[in-house]
Amino acid sequence: NNYVLIMAGGVGSRFWPKSRNHFPKQFIDILGVGKSLLQLTYDRFLKICPAENIHVLTNEQYSELVKMQIPGLSDGQVLLEPSRNNTAPCIAYASYKILQHNKDANIVVAPSDHLILKEQEFLIKIAQALSFTSSNNALLTLGINPTRPDTGYGYINFKSEEKSDICPVLCFMEKPVLEVAKGFLDTGGYLWNAGIFIWSAKSITEAFQKYAPEIHKLFSAGSAFYNTNQEAHFITENYPSAPNISIDYAILEKADNVFTIPADIGWSDLGTWASLHEVAEKDEHQNVLNCKAASLEDTDNCMIYLPEGKATVIKGLKNFIVVDDGEVLLIYPKSDEQEIKRVAGVMVENF
Ligand code: GDD
Ligand code: MG
Repeated sequence: NNYVLIMAGGVGSRFWPKSRNHFPKQFIDILGVGKSLLQLTYDRFLKICPAENIHVLTNEQYSELVKMQIPGLSDGQVLLEPSRNNTAPCIAYASYKILQHNKDANIVVAPSDHLILKEQEFLIKIAQALSFTSSNNALLTLGINPTRPDTGYGYINFKSEEKSDICPVLCFMEKPVLEVAKGFLDTGGYLWNAGIFIWSAKSITEAFQKYAPEIHKLFSAGSAFYNTNQEAHFITENYPSAPNISIDYAILEKADNVFTIPADIGWSDLGTWASLHEVAEKDEHQNVLNCKAASLEDTDNCMIYLPEGKATVIKGLKNFIVVDDGEVLLIYPKSDEQEIKRVAGVMVENF
């Protein structure tokens, strides 16, 4: 009864210019290990459920990319969205479709662009989580110990339990402003939302009904068409009118049956160049450099990403991001990297 939904429809704009609208970061071998982040995610989940129960949710635009990178997926396992409406609608679509097929389905929802270093620990937590949600009406999220007041994450205030790893969530707040995030870290008792959710198809569709009735109405109406040859037509006609909202705002901030399982899994969001710098292998001056043809002098704490074999000489650079993808060259202070999302949009139409 276990299913996995891998969300692979985002554009990863803070990883510009390497991540582009036509080739987002989940499809890139950003770690230099010979596999894209999506492929690594898929491989990880093969250990959790049968291959035929893994679905990838993505925009129509990336259909070929997904099938090329994961040839094991049948057409029915790649759910295509005709428009960009953020994560709540794509999760709803997949959940109602799976519920139609299997009333007892238990689902893991995961992003396609994260790094998880401690895979064994991760698999143990997911197994515990699945066992909990199969017998409780609970929306469960993996919680990560926060290390800085990052404003790009959801924050979870939870009540720790003596007898169980699974704790009730008192309050969930998506992307707080910096002052609030700092307050959470000072107070303690908060976790980051890893964006990896576990729930039964029944629980999440009930939550849509209660907290996002518009989404519920739209996607429950599709139940007559899911898993038939009319599904694609129904989605093309109806998906674009779904509200544009993430699952965090639509459900997790509102629901009263949210739980968390604190997980020490070597997690990184790989959301920005600095986050890659943090986890990647560094030289003795704390530089990350992917290209052997480059030479660095008096250069520290830089994230340098060049085309393989590009002869480059850098002297006297500190705390910078340097990314050359052949078409675009970005040289930007690491401290201002949150601006890259905006810069990308302004610089290049459709970046
Ligand atoms: N299929 C599909 N369709 N996938 C999407 C869409 C969409 O419209 N939009 C985003 N995604 C995918 C992204 O590719 C990514 O894998 C995942 O969904 C999460 O989207 P992000 O846009 O990366 O969300 P976020 O990083 O701002 O915030 C979420 O993740 C944080 C942890 O990394 C939230 O869940 C936060 O609460 C959480 O802390
Ligand atoms: Mg993200």
